[in-house]
Amino acid sequence: MVNIPLSKPCLGEEEKKAVNEVLDSGFLAQGENVRKFEEEFARYVGVKEAVATSNGTTALFVALKALGVKEGDRVITTPFTFVATASSILQCGGVPVFCDVDEKTFNLDPGKLEDILKKERNIKGIIAVHLYGLPCDLEEIAFLTQKYNLFLLEDCAQAHGAECQGRKVGSWGDMGAFSFYPTKNMTTGEGGMITTNDSLLAQKCRMLINHGSRKRYYHEALGYNFRLTDIGGALGRVQLSKLEQFNEKRRRNAAFYNQELADLPFIDVPYLPPYALPVFHQYTLRVKGARDALLQFLRDGGIGCEIYYPLPLHHQPFLQNLYSASSFPVAENLAREVLSLPVHPQLTREDLNTIILGVREFFLNH
Ligand SMILES: Cc1ncc(COP(=O)(O)O)c(C=O)c1O
Repeated sequence: MVNIPLSKPCLGEEEKKAVNEVLDSGFLAQGENVRKFEEEFARYVGVKEAVATSNGTTALFVALKALGVKEGDRVITTPFTFVATASSILQCGGVPVFCDVDEKTFNLDPGKLEDILKKERNIKGIIAVHLYGLPCDLEEIAFLTQKYNLFLLEDCAQAHGAECQGRKVGSWGDMGAFSFYPTKNMTTGEGGMITTNDSLLAQKCRMLINHGSRKRYYHEALGYNFRLTDIGGALGRVQLSKLEQFNEKRRRNAAFYNQELADLPFIDVPYLPPYALPVFHQYTLRVKGARDALLQFLRDGGIGCEIYYPLPLHHQPFLQNLYSASSFPVAENLAREVLSLPVHPQLTREDLNTIILGVREFFLNH
């Protein structure tokens, strides 16, 4: 019986040993492991500072707070992303302004971005999402944020280690936000990280995630408890040391799929722009017709697959009223056509062949 999960965290003896050491120490809350994890992550991304948080959503929210997003502030982002990208803007009192995505990369389209910026004068910043582990065109987007004097926050939740023009994501914008949820390219269970070259912004984030406090029991601002535990910190340090290896395996799996599936007439394999080193958080096909039937066929055959995302954000029930007059045709088409296959590092060549055969068999009979 075939049973291939869509995602599976890679946890080995080193992770168990690191977590056990924290348990044995009795110091479970934020401590030395989180501090070292932050240092190591900052060095890896190539930024001055990294601040660990409780998850990717709180990383985005706190970064926006530190960047000064408040009631009524307008922030541009993509409608084709996980809900947390936009809900973090709303939780600050801000208003997401959606911009349609590029046909090929599925990321923010810099041309459409500039069209909005030429018309709308009161935009405060941009959240650029590196969807499925493919970096946005950061050179173009950073050019626009400088030209229009906006902040740039990178949502790197799906793109640990990805590069644009040889430079890691999370180091291009004013800030970057990462997630370490178990399906991600590396995990701490739940967890997140903010990256920045601005020490003042990092200081603000550190204060906000710790009850608005820098000195014990003195509270300078209304804050939160969004700290990462030392168990997460210990896990994160081991996972970070293996990240390059994990990402290389994902790229190899993706290259094999490309080689074996590119000839099929009804699907597009992922596009790779020349500026990007991707990390394939997802391997996502664009299926022209019968996408839902293919999904069901693969699932019936024991192959985990998923649609990221079936509803663009402007069509989500809780946002529908706000955006009832809006239309983002590329995002809407993608929601009808995308299908993600397993690409995680634990897949064997036999698993990949089973999945490829499944896809080919479906199209033989349709
Ligand atoms: C693009 C994107 N942004 C933000 C998040 C939020 O991260 P978390 O689930 O750790 O809160 C996710 C996680 O799924 C994501 O995919």
